[in-house]
Formats: sequence, C-alpha cells, structure tokens
Amino acid sequence: MAEDLCSSHKNVFIIRPPKASPLLSRMIILVFAAACGVFIFSICLKQISSQAKSFIQVIQRPCGNHGVNPLRAPHLHYPKPQSFGRAECEGNPVRFFSIVTLDRVYNLDWVSSASKNECSAAIGLKWMLNQGLMEYHDEISEHLKRKGVSVIFLFRRNLLRRMISVVANSYDCYAKPLNGTHKSHVHSQEEADTLSKYKPFINATTLISELQKMELMTAKALKYFNSTRHIVLHYEDLVSNHTKLLDVQDFLGLPHMKLKSRQVKIHKGRLQEHIQNWDEVSKTLNGTSYESFLHMDY
Ligand SMILES: *[C@@H]1O[C@H](CO)[C@@H](O)[C@H](O)[C@H]1NC(C)=O
Ligand SMILES: *[C@@H]1O[C@H](CO)[C@@H](O)[C@H](O)[C@H]1NC(C)=O
Ligand SMILES: *[C@@H]1O[C@H](CO)[C@@H](O)[C@H](O)[C@H]1NC(C)=O
Ligand SMILES: *[C@@H]1O[C@H](CO)[C@@H](O)[C@H](O)[C@H]1NC(C)=O
Ligand SMILES: *[C@@H]1O[C@H](CO)[C@@H](O)[C@H](O)[C@H]1NC(C)=O
Repeated sequence: MAEDLCSSHKNVFIIRPPKASPLLSRMIILVFAAACGVFIFSICLKQISSQAKSFIQVIQRPCGNHGVNPLRAPHLHYPKPQSFGRAECEGNPVRFFSIVTLDRVYNLDWVSSASKNECSAAIGLKWMLNQGLMEYHDEISEHLKRKGVSVIFLFRRNLLRRMISVVANSYDCYAKPLNGTHKSHVHSQEEADTLSKYKPFINATTLISELQKMELMTAKALKYFNSTRHIVLHYEDLVSNHTKLLDVQDFLGLPHMKLKSRQVKIHKGRLQEHIQNWDEVSKTLNGTSYESFLHMDY
C-alpha cells in the first residue's frame, strides 16, 4: 500500500512525456498552474491564520504510509515548504483540513507523541463561523472543494453551556484573574478552578432568541458547506468518548494514533453552580424545547 502511494506520488512529479510532443508543453502549463494554486492557497492560509489568530493544528505522525487506505483517503497534498525541508518525508502525503466552530472557546489542542514537523500528516486551521465564513460561503465552499480541504464541523449540543463559556471568556478577557493573563484554554485544574469562580449572568429576556440564533446559524453552516467533504463532531462526544477521535482520523485518512488533549474543563458539574441568575434562567427554559440544556452534563 505504501508503495502504491509512493509510485502515484512519483507519477505526479516525475513526468516523462514522449519527445517533442505537445503534451509536454501542456504538462508544463498544468504543473505551473498547480504550483500557482498551491502558492495562492498557502498565501490565503497565512492571511486567514494571522487575521483570525487561528490555531494552526498539526497532527504529526512518524514517517511511512503504513495503514493509509488510499481509497478512503481524502485529497493528498505534497507541499514543498520554503522555510524548511521535508527531507525524507517529502514523499509523505499531507491532508488539509479546516475545523469550523461557532466560537473559539474550545480548542481541540491535539498533540501526538510523534516528532518532527516535517512529517506532518495533516495540517489544518480553525475557522469560526463569524470570520466571513457565512458571508462568503459560496466562494469558500468552492475553494475548499477545489483545494481538497476536508471540513470538520465542531459544535456543541448544549448551547446554554456554550453561552456560559462565551460570557465567562469575555469576562476573563478584561478581568484576567489568572495572574494578569487571559486564557481561553487552561491546562491545569488549579487554573480551571480559578476561572470557574466567576459565575456569568445570563440575560433571560434575550435567552431564547439567542439560543434560536445559534441553532439557525449552525444549521445554515451545515447547509452552505454540505457539498464539501465534511464530518460533524460534537464537543460533548469528544469529551465523553475518547474513541470518537478515531472517527476523525478515519475521516482524514490517517492511521490510528494516540491523540490527546491536555485541556481541562473550566465549567464542570451541575449548571446551577455556574450561573448567577439560575432561577430566572431555569424558569425561562422550563417547558421549552431547550429545557434539556438545564440538565445535560457537559
Ligand atoms: C500566580 O502567581 C503566583 C506567584 O507567581 C503562583 O504561585 C500562582 O500559582 C499563580 N496562579 C495561577 C493561577 O497561575
Ligand atoms: C437584557 O437584554 C435586553 C436587550 O438587549 C436589555 O434591554 C436588558 O436591559 C437586558 N437585561 C439585563 C438585566 O441586563
Ligand atoms: C446534505 O445533502 C444530503 C444529500 O444531498 C442531504 O441528504 C442532506 O439532508 C443535506 N444536509 C443538509 C444539512 O442540508
Ligand atoms: C464512542 O465512539 C465510537 C466511535 O464513533 C462509537 O463506535 C461508540 O459507539 C461510542 N461509544 C459510546 C459509548 O457512545
Ligand atoms: C418546571 O415547571 C414545572 C411545572 O410548571 C415545575 O413543577 C418544575 O419545578 C419546573 N422546573 C424547574 C427546574 O423550574
């Protein structure tokens, strides 16, 4: 299998057309066009990531193509970065993916034990729905398809908990309780405990319409990007089921490897301990289709 991938790789880059054939010039144009495409895409990636301060998430794995099923595998890319050489990994394919989320409060923060950037097997960036994704959905969807970028939708089922995270995060942005630094993601229990001492106030008047807005936005995003190669993940499932990450690796056509997140949850346990005006909020949602958010864990 590894050989198959390698030889197909060679077919791409070592083209030996018959002598003096018009095919040669066509091939040159084709290769040139492809190179331009990759170049433009890398510029786009750079702009998007700097503008959005997105997290470039890199999943690494050791060299070798073992375990990759070429039939199920997504688009494979063979980048030639200028700032470093991929060395012996040059023949290793790389998958592009984009994680689409509603906000930046949660981060998958995937790390693996493998070393060396040069052997990255998948490279992606996080893209929030409010970062032009909805306004320019047609163009972006076309672009992602053309460039073979797989899309991972990462949503949260419990939108009320999402709201708490967002409010708490914006509080943390200016109050900075962790020794004067703002942290949306924490890596120790101590930090999580400090942050969870703040109980957000939820505006009950606008609560229902806010929840509806979020639902509508997620549904719209799924509709807009339905024709891309995509997978929908829920944060709750990732947290409660560690094998869920295998689905992601299958989707990206990666061999299974241990991925773990060092992140610690900030708002754990029953919701009423995390909302200042719990009575008002629970009264507002009681009897509505959102009532389950009051009881759901995570
Ligand atoms: C804040 O800083 C103090 C002293 O530098 C340290 O002991 C404490 O652990 C820090 N707290 C957090 C939450 O990082
Ligand atoms: C809730 O939001 C509405 C609309 O933005 C605002 O008029 C009202 O004052 C807010 N209520 C509280 C308690 O902040
Ligand atoms: C996406 O397309 C598939 C097949 O065309 C359809 O069954 C599905 O309902 C669509 N999903 C959304 C969210 O539009
Ligand atoms: C965990 O996720 C895996 C992969 O999606 C699935 O097969 C399994 O049924 C899930 N387990 C539970 C308890 O939900
Ligand atoms: C929801 O409403 C029912 C009936 O009106 C009441 O018995 C129940 O205590 C309410 N639950 C909460 C969490 O407020």
